[in-house]
Amino acid sequence: MKKLQLLAVGSLLALCLAGCSEKDEIDRKVDELLSKMTLREKIGQMHQVSGAGTHAEEAAAKGEVGSILNCVDPAEINAVQRAAVEQSRLGIPVIVGRDVIHGFRTIFPIPLGLAATFDPELVEQGARVAAIEATASGVHWTFSPMLDIARDSRWGRVAEGSGEDPYLDTQMGVAMVRGYQGDDFADPTSMAACIKHFVGYGAAEGGRDYNSTMISERSLRNTYFPAFKACVDAGALTLMTSFNEIDGIPSTGNDFLLKDVLRQEWGFDGMVVTDWNSSGEMVAHGFAKDLKHATELSVNAGVDMDMMSFGYISYIEELVKEGKIKEETIDNAVRNILKLKFRLGLFDNPYVDVDASARVDYAPEHLAAAKQSAVESAILLQNDNDVLPLDKARTILVTGPMADAPYDQLGTWAFDGQSEHTVTPLQALRECYEVIYEPGLAYSRDRDTKDFAKVRAAAQRADAAVVFVGEEAILSGEAHSLSSLNLQGAQSELIAEVRKSGKPVVVVVIAGRPLTIERDLANCDAMLYAFHPGTMGGEALADLIKGKAVPSGKSPMTFLRDAGQAPFYYNHNNTGRPCNGTETLLEDIPMKAGQTSLGCTSYYLDSGYGPLFPFGYGLSYTTFEYGNITLEKTALGKDDTIVVEFDLSNTGKRDGVEVVQLYTRDLVGSVVRPVKELRRFERVALAAGETKHIRMELPVAELAFWNRDMQYVVEPGDFQLWVAGDSASGEAYPFSVE
Ligand code: GLC
Repeated sequence: MKKLQLLAVGSLLALCLAGCSEKDEIDRKVDELLSKMTLREKIGQMHQVSGAGTHAEEAAAKGEVGSILNCVDPAEINAVQRAAVEQSRLGIPVIVGRDVIHGFRTIFPIPLGLAATFDPELVEQGARVAAIEATASGVHWTFSPMLDIARDSRWGRVAEGSGEDPYLDTQMGVAMVRGYQGDDFADPTSMAACIKHFVGYGAAEGGRDYNSTMISERSLRNTYFPAFKACVDAGALTLMTSFNEIDGIPSTGNDFLLKDVLRQEWGFDGMVVTDWNSSGEMVAHGFAKDLKHATELSVNAGVDMDMMSFGYISYIEELVKEGKIKEETIDNAVRNILKLKFRLGLFDNPYVDVDASARVDYAPEHLAAAKQSAVESAILLQNDNDVLPLDKARTILVTGPMADAPYDQLGTWAFDGQSEHTVTPLQALRECYEVIYEPGLAYSRDRDTKDFAKVRAAAQRADAAVVFVGEEAILSGEAHSLSSLNLQGAQSELIAEVRKSGKPVVVVVIAGRPLTIERDLANCDAMLYAFHPGTMGGEALADLIKGKAVPSGKSPMTFLRDAGQAPFYYNHNNTGRPCNGTETLLEDIPMKAGQTSLGCTSYYLDSGYGPLFPFGYGLSYTTFEYGNITLEKTALGKDDTIVVEFDLSNTGKRDGVEVVQLYTRDLVGSVVRPVKELRRFERVALAAGETKHIRMELPVAELAFWNRDMQYVVEPGDFQLWVAGDSASGEAYPFSVE
């Protein structure tokens, strides 16, 4: 045994030494190269331009560009690379960046849909597929994962993130970092991740993109930082600053964020890039008097590379000569950039095989992973009378503007997905039903109801109707905030029209965000919600409608009754006057009601208090029961682990998967604490009638938070714990920490 142990220790030591020596070797190469560089060449590395072609090739030949983005043509990329490597004095390769947000050619569900899977392993697999396809086209660096906590569906970019919960956000972010970067950065299929947008971008006032945020340091640390910190710990190679200002300080000029927290506290040794012109935008913010001043602020705050403000390439030399930027600061920035390029093996393999992408794009296993992701991302919101699955219907009416929308089905940030590869629901349903197709509306904003009569007539000839509504891709994503979250155009009217047929009505929503669909629920039997499900969304939805697959998706964001409720999220504070269900609603208010007669709690007279559907909500074609819930210990010390065990039964007639969620609540803190916090989740597959005994563990240490004294501690006291199928269900089980 001794010999084996010695062998194990020896190999572990060897591994560590290998890692260290590789790091040392890269550091040595970086310093050696840096020592040869002129100031102009250093500044060139800090400059990123969009596109390839002559302008990029000329700059690369002069060593005046360190990175290009938005080019995915291997031959064009190689042309810029040849200029950099073979014509510039030092032959430093450029790094090619691209927004590979939810797939490259094979498009997966948008990240909000990926979050709805609560399946980090599948999400990691999807990111790996994206990396394989993107690197085959010459992309070395993706501007993903987006980790912005989103609590306001009016913000169009909720589509690109993992929703409202820090724990789910963390699990999904780390999974994507791992998938993109793989196990060996120098592997040709490894692609640098870029965690973004640092930080607090999703808290934009009113859900208006790019807008102001007011986030305390404690809220940053308890809510907005965790996913970034976890991804830094997981080895994310780059980070992107955010457009917004926090309490008046734009993130791109915020040295508290970029130096104190990111470098000093977290030990991030990767590369920091601005968002598109976010350095230059500090002039519009009123934080810099001109682009030169903005450049000085960004560089001195710790931003290594400038995406498209042209401030770095234009002003750094002057600023260094004026003593406003130290050359040592430039050296540190360039060191981070060169380190990234060495780690990715760009010096050894700068060129891309122009035939590689044809070998990997849309590979069957890639499409299969995208389809599985789309199946698991769909959320069953309603299923009255078990109308779904439509396993007995023969002839169905397929209607609605999203039934056959190959481009829009891909969602936002799907630049490189080719819609001719999209399988739409109409195409897939035609494989398994007799389909009568009457779109009724041409696109999601269409208000022209002239074809409704055809839809009405068609419904009479069908056994059931499936109405595909939602959002065109352009209606979510960057700069696409909405003040109303109702279905656009005459889509709700179309659903109501089909309802009049008296046939079973299934509504499938394909959108980039949770919409306010309460009135539409009233006009259908069943509703499946699919956040832009990507290339294979049609096949996935057809399988779910037919019953070949069973829905397991859970909402990563709260579904509102009305946009006026935003921002709304499950992990809110309790307030001093929480809603208690006794409140009087608008239609019940008597004439001349006394001023304090309606209930003085935190609610809306018109839309009450609760959401339409809570975080973590999703039905199945079967039912699940939680039983025999027990805590191993209910009085715990700070070094203990909470152990909860319970039986989970599939009490229905179909096999299914339940996403079990574990929540805790810290009842009293030195600052008020959220009414619930997701701590664990697990996908559990159960055959009809099957029961499994589940054990979940949670170290007490994970109950820590930044308290009144800004210490990261677990405060002793009473807590509650839930295990349930969503954030609003289950019973509270008390425990205490001394
Ligand atoms: C955009 C986005 C950012 C993206 C970058 C490059 O403005 O804010 O998420 O990665 O520019 O396209």
